[in-house]
Amino acid sequence: MKKLLTLEINGERFDVAVSPATFLVDVIRETVGLTGTKKGCGIGDCGACTVLIDGRPTLSCLTLAVACTGKSITTIEGLSRGTELHPVQQAFIDKGAIQCGYCTPGMILSSTALLAENPSPSEEEIKHGLAGNLCRCTGYVKIIEAVKHAAETMAKEAK
Ligand code: FES
Ligand code: FES
Repeated sequence: MKKLLTLEINGERFDVAVSPATFLVDVIRETVGLTGTKKGCGIGDCGACTVLIDGRPTLSCLTLAVACTGKSITTIEGLSRGTELHPVQQAFIDKGAIQCGYCTPGMILSSTALLAENPSPSEEEIKHGLAGNLCRCTGYVKIIEAVKHAAETMAKEAK
């Protein structure tokens, strides 16, 4: 039997009817229609489905939608400031840290959470912060460069 829930995604409220066993990634993609969140492995291994829940990177393929009422969910679509990309999004483009793009939304959301907690991370801290996000294409060097670049941009903006 389906249950009626209200989810707050990117500052908007969505009323959805879902079965208690439905995972958040499926509600975000299929019910709400925000397909920026990717579903890779579906078992918690790849990080492609990462969203922020109350600011924390969370695997939406392992999170039941019913557990998310009253929480603030951010997907990649909610990161930009109107038509202006978030500095982390812009840095991934500027540093060529995107190839097929499948890992990118999750990478960017994990990076954003890392920089919110640690605005000037070392390379090791970046690697640790992104340890749950796998990329099959880039070899990570450009991703790490992008996170460093975003940190610099955000530090300048904060002045
Ligand atoms: S799809 Fe969620 S971790 Fe791979
Ligand atoms: S850019 Fe293709 S998986 Fe990361």
